[in-house]
Amino acid sequence: MYALFWRFLSGFVAIFTRNIITLAGSTLVTASVILIAVLMGLETMGRVDSPYLGIVIFLILPGFFVLGLLVIPLGVLWERWRARKRSMVAAEEAAKPFPVLDFNNARVRGVAGAVALLTVFNFGIMGVISYKGVVYTESVDFCGRVCHTVMEPEYTAYLDSPHSRVACVECHIGPGADWFAKSKLSGVRQVVAVTLDTFSRPIPSPVRELRPSKETCEECHWPAKFTGDRIRVIPKYLEDEENSLIHSVLLMHIGGGHGGGHGIHSWHIDPSKTTTYLPLDEQRQEIGIVRVTEADGTVTEYRASGLELTEEEVAKAEFRTMDCIDCHNRPTHIFHAPAQAVDLRMASGGIDPSLPYVKRVGVEALEAAVGEPGDLDRIAAHVRDFYARDYAELAEQQRGTIDKAVEELQGIYKRNVFPDMKVTWNTYPNNLGHNDDFPGCFRCHDDSHESKTGQTIRGDCSLCHTLLAWDEEDPDILKQLELK
Ligand code: HEC
Ligand code: HEC
Ligand code: HEC
Ligand code: HEC
Ligand code: HEC
Repeated sequence: MYALFWRFLSGFVAIFTRNIITLAGSTLVTASVILIAVLMGLETMGRVDSPYLGIVIFLILPGFFVLGLLVIPLGVLWERWRARKRSMVAAEEAAKPFPVLDFNNARVRGVAGAVALLTVFNFGIMGVISYKGVVYTESVDFCGRVCHTVMEPEYTAYLDSPHSRVACVECHIGPGADWFAKSKLSGVRQVVAVTLDTFSRPIPSPVRELRPSKETCEECHWPAKFTGDRIRVIPKYLEDEENSLIHSVLLMHIGGGHGGGHGIHSWHIDPSKTTTYLPLDEQRQEIGIVRVTEADGTVTEYRASGLELTEEEVAKAEFRTMDCIDCHNRPTHIFHAPAQAVDLRMASGGIDPSLPYVKRVGVEALEAAVGEPGDLDRIAAHVRDFYARDYAELAEQQRGTIDKAVEELQGIYKRNVFPDMKVTWNTYPNNLGHNDDFPGCFRCHDDSHESKTGQTIRGDCSLCHTLLAWDEEDPDILKQLELK
């Protein structure tokens, strides 16, 4: 037993220190294994928290490890070549392409044993590293923080959303080997684009190769299983001196549950029909043709009034099949417009609604800040100048409240505007709803997409929701619901 151990040990030593090249190779292998182990340990203990650590542990160090493994046999070959040159090997043996291994020789047995043992060990290490490496490239850290500037807008919005605990890959890749491979290939392309600085700013949306939502969203959500209506209470502040508070109260007909009822999901998500549409612009904000195919094969085609396309162009055009993302295109990367963001912060109390005209002044300050150097200072100056000029006394007394409002407005800016990526107010449309900025549902539901028989896609106000109150100062419905 003892002898066997010594034979292995001398076998290891013989391979590693055979010559300068094998020595270099084995040093590389040993050093990278030790470094990988130490860094993994530090990371597990939470001593180091950097998204770049993973790149070092799972990409750079394993590279050195493999390089070292390749260098060791090179050293052995080199030595053989040298020995042959110096005619130290018998002519008969030198003529053979491969060395002769004589297992009757204890030294050969030792070296062979050592090589076999090391190979098993190395496969073990590479297995663990590859597995952990794959896990790492699927992590939110890798997706959101490594290319910090590039992903900053999406990552920032994501952290502040209902899906902040859902990993990026759950929506962007989903389960299965084919999408796994696709995503790794497209990942390599993205790394190249970032390295060569050839990526687009902003990152374009819609994402062309996004996986159909049936295989992502529906892994967690099952609209067939939720039904009914939902009350939404939307507070808003007017731009008057008192920042008067008004409310809209909507009963959203969310629908759901296949095969029955009327509602948003029960119609659009019903598996017995497929809706496809032809967008007329890159961002799919204008829709030319909508086709609904029923289970029995009947097709109803609605065309926008004044559509200028020849039949040939229509035949060639690529239609998109509608799924969750055509309405929920911002389930997690939710950006706000200035007025909407200020309303949110006023409702949560961050911006004190008792400051005169704070809604108007805040929105003005934000709308003027569209992603240029010095924006944050200009936001502060705009608000402070206003109060110093028009409310000098209050500006003195309420200095703290005004400072807090300025801080909140700057927070809104940093949450929604990203100059490095050319993302500013309303860069990304939100299709869930309808407002002055984006038509959303009204891209189709505008009473002007018409079928051959004169049917239109309906736009009546009670199709999707019942308006229980619309921008009212003291809606009765809130009292009835005891929400006031
Ligand atoms: C809940 C699902 C979901 C999660 C989680 C998610 N995304 Fe997205 N992401 C989407 C959808 C949906 C789109 C827009 C698709 C479209 O309009 O075609 C999108 C778009 C993007 C875009 C394109 C630019 C844009 O804003 O439209 C980037 C970049 C992106 N996501 C990165 C990330 C990163 C990084 C993470 C993790 C930090 C992440 N996503 C997590 C669903 C998700
Ligand atoms: C890994 C699971 C998971 C995936 C995948 C996922 N979601 Fe969600 N989603 C959740 C959870 C959990 C919540 C509830 C969050 C809460 O209420 O705080 C949620 C909430 C929502 C909400 C309600 C948000 C609100 O404001 O009330 C919508 C809408 C939604 N998801 C749509 C989507 C869409 C669209 C996709 C695909 C692009 C998707 N989800 C993918 C888990 C997931
Ligand atoms: C035709 C547009 C449309 C499509 C398609 C659509 N949704 Fe929705 N969804 C909505 C609207 C509108 C709401 C209500 C939003 C609100 O209350 O403000 C909603 C609400 C939700 C909610 C919150 C439900 C609740 O009870 O609060 C979830 C979760 C959700 N959708 C998931 C999905 C998933 C998953 C898909 C795809 C299978 C999908 N939706 C397809 C428009 C759509
Ligand atoms: C690509 C076009 C398109 C978009 C975008 C679209 N719809 Fe529709 N929707 C249709 C068509 C077509 C019908 C069927 C015709 C009709 O009922 O008037 C329909 C029907 C409906 C119905 C009627 C359900 C019933 O049972 O009668 C509701 C509710 C609805 N949509 C909600 C929405 C909401 C909410 C949005 C936006 C979040 C939206 N739709 C966006 C095409 C669209
Ligand atoms: C095709 C479906 C659909 C139709 C038709 C529709 N709406 Fe809406 N509406 C929505 C959805 C979805 C939202 C909620 C968006 C959100 O989640 O914030 C909404 C939100 C609203 C809001 C609150 C928005 C806010 O931020 O203040 C008002 C007010 C409103 N709708 C009024 C109307 C009126 C008036 C009509 C008729 C002219 C109408 N809607 C027709 C789908 C529809």
